[in-house]
Amino acid sequence: MLRYDAPVQAITRVARAANLAAASQHIPQGSQVILLIGAANRDPDRYPDPDRLDPTRSDIRPLSFGAGPHICIGNTLARLEAAVAFPRLLTRFPALSAAPGEQPTRRNRLMLRGYETLPVIVT
Ligand code: HEM
Repeated sequence: MLRYDAPVQAITRVARAANLAAASQHIPQGSQVILLIGAANRDPDRYPDPDRLDPTRSDIRPLSFGAGPHICIGNTLARLEAAVAFPRLLTRFPALSAAPGEQPTRRNRLMLRGYETLPVIVT
């Protein structure tokens, strides 16, 4: 899920070094760079059939928490919360599913993705 629909779609960096390049594109020293980690998570060279949600994929290392020295400091807490919350939710509501005929609505945000509404049925 973190790969498929990263809550944080983009992070920024300032190019401190000279002579940086990415995909043959020169990055001027001092410029701001927007890194589309949500798109990188769906790179077809990295993940076959990237737009398919497949919980059984192996070797998934999403960039959803960033990378390097500033990788999300809360990433282990966030993973632990999910590992606790989702099994409990599905144990409590084993028939949990999307409400038929109703569309979820997304929050109107560029950087932080999420749902404004997510209609479900629980029985
Ligand atoms: C699913 C949940 C979360 C996601 C997707 C997420 C994602 C991210 C991302 C993409 C960054 C930027 C990393 C970078 O620039 O390389 C970040 C930074 C950060 N996150 Fe999270 N985060 C989550 C939960 C949390 C939680 C639970 C905490 C704290 C309890 C937290 C605290 C921080 C802090 C303090 C930073 C700044 C780290 C730094 O600049 O050195 N995050 N997060």
